[in-house]
Amino acid sequence: MVNNRITQDGLSALEQELARASFGPLAGDETIAGDLPDDHAARTIAELAALAGNPHIDTWRDKLDALKSRNAIAKPLRPCGRLTRAAGLVLEAVGLKMGVGSECMIELPPGSAIPTAEAEVVGFAGDKLFLMPTTEVAGLLPGARVYPLESAPINDPMAGAKRLPVGWEMLGRVVDASGRPLDGLGPLGAKMDAPLAGPVINPLNREPIHKVLDVGVRAINSLLTVGRGQRMGLFAGSGVGKSVLLGTMARYTSAEVIVIGLIGERGREVKEFIEQILGEDGLARSVVVAAPADVSPVLRMQAAAYTTSLAEYFRDQGKHVLMLMDSLTRYAMAQREIALAIGEPPATKGYPPSVFAKLPALVERTGNGPEGGGSITAFYTVLTEGDDQQDPIADSARAILDGHIVLNRSLAEAGHYPAIDIEQSISRVMTSIIDDKHLERVRLFKQMLSRYQRNKDLINVGAYSHGRDALLDRAIALYPRMESFLQQGFREQANFEPSLDLLHQLFE
Ligand SMILES: Nc1ncnc2c1ncn2[C@@H]1O[C@H](COP(=O)(O)OP(=O)(O)OP(=O)(O)O)[C@@H](O)[C@H]1O
Ligand SMILES: [Mg+2]
Repeated sequence: MVNNRITQDGLSALEQELARASFGPLAGDETIAGDLPDDHAARTIAELAALAGNPHIDTWRDKLDALKSRNAIAKPLRPCGRLTRAAGLVLEAVGLKMGVGSECMIELPPGSAIPTAEAEVVGFAGDKLFLMPTTEVAGLLPGARVYPLESAPINDPMAGAKRLPVGWEMLGRVVDASGRPLDGLGPLGAKMDAPLAGPVINPLNREPIHKVLDVGVRAINSLLTVGRGQRMGLFAGSGVGKSVLLGTMARYTSAEVIVIGLIGERGREVKEFIEQILGEDGLARSVVVAAPADVSPVLRMQAAAYTTSLAEYFRDQGKHVLMLMDSLTRYAMAQREIALAIGEPPATKGYPPSVFAKLPALVERTGNGPEGGGSITAFYTVLTEGDDQQDPIADSARAILDGHIVLNRSLAEAGHYPAIDIEQSISRVMTSIIDDKHLERVRLFKQMLSRYQRNKDLINVGAYSHGRDALLDRAIALYPRMESFLQQGFREQANFEPSLDLLHQLFE
């Protein structure tokens, strides 16, 4: 018997069966033997394979095809890391290589209200990632699996960046920090999305501010004139009327689109702002992004960035956008929460240095676009704790904005609304957008007002006698009219031209 011949001799029944399955009929099999030439009762493997169309290869081919089709429907292998620490607001994970700002999912134990929690990478140290959850994480277990979320397609220039819906379909809608509708009016239907971080505009390409923007508030239009593309701060303590003033501007400003970011406000206030302050007409040309105080600091920051992205989208369509953000301080506070949680040292009033870097980065995205394009005029409210104008955020905001409107608590307490403190407020671009006569009148108004304020106590106790100071006499005579000029009802619209006429009339 030669070795390379396959015959049935010496094979057990099972071995014969296996040999048949692999190589087809064996030498000596009756049925086949009849078909084969007599002198080739026993054959080489190659000969058998050729004769039987190589059943061995066919078998493996079938098996490979089956594997291929299973592979096609199988999910790709997903890398995952493990949670090693959860202390305070941050979670730590190992085993993943993800960029700061990317998102991941963390598995929650079975039976949790939601199967997975979401988190964002906010920093790293060595191979440890710091994650900040954006959803509820109650029930999180040590060693829980952490999966990176899909990133944007590679061929996209902003690949990996988080993209949220933008578009005209969003007018009249209220969404959360992730672009999910909050108003119960069904899906947004937005066909476009935009990255959260907008492209930087070359400062030399920005169109200068040279057009007046009518904001519908007499005191601002006449004495603190705002230019199209200007970025203003609204500085006040709590409850002095910031939100109401923003709402008035939202209703009466001559802007094509309004984007409103409600960041870190009380949840109750969001509904109140939309229904009572903004009103139906205001909402119809607005998009509202709301991230109340109880959502994760990551989402509060994201909401501010998203508000700006939406405004940028409309500006890039050549529109004149009004952006209102309430409040910039809460944005700074959210960044403080994150930075402190991942171990950045606090500097001024507990604010870590990164806060003061984030503020200009956000604010610089608004303003005018390139020549001939659209614009974003922005109003940011800034909380001045205990009416302290030296608050580090207020200080920093004052330095990066093109003007500030200060609301005064004693005016509000006296029922003087809007409680704008004309003396402390300034619009830095005003001188270059209004005419000389207007400017002269503003100067005169401020002079009179400040002269009266400085001598108010003397006048009130009767220590000032008429005729000692001609300017003060005039100020005293004008004061009641100036005061009523500055006041404006919550539902009253005061356009630019009528406001200016009234200002001129005061001094004629
Ligand atoms: N123009 C106005 N006319 C009449 N009342 C006003 C006016 N502006 C504000 N108020 C009163 O002041 C209150 C507080 O206003 P608002 O909610 O705007 O303050 P806020 O500065 O936004 O407060 P917070 O810091 O708490 O958000 C209002 O509820 C309203 O009663
Ligand atoms: Mg408010």
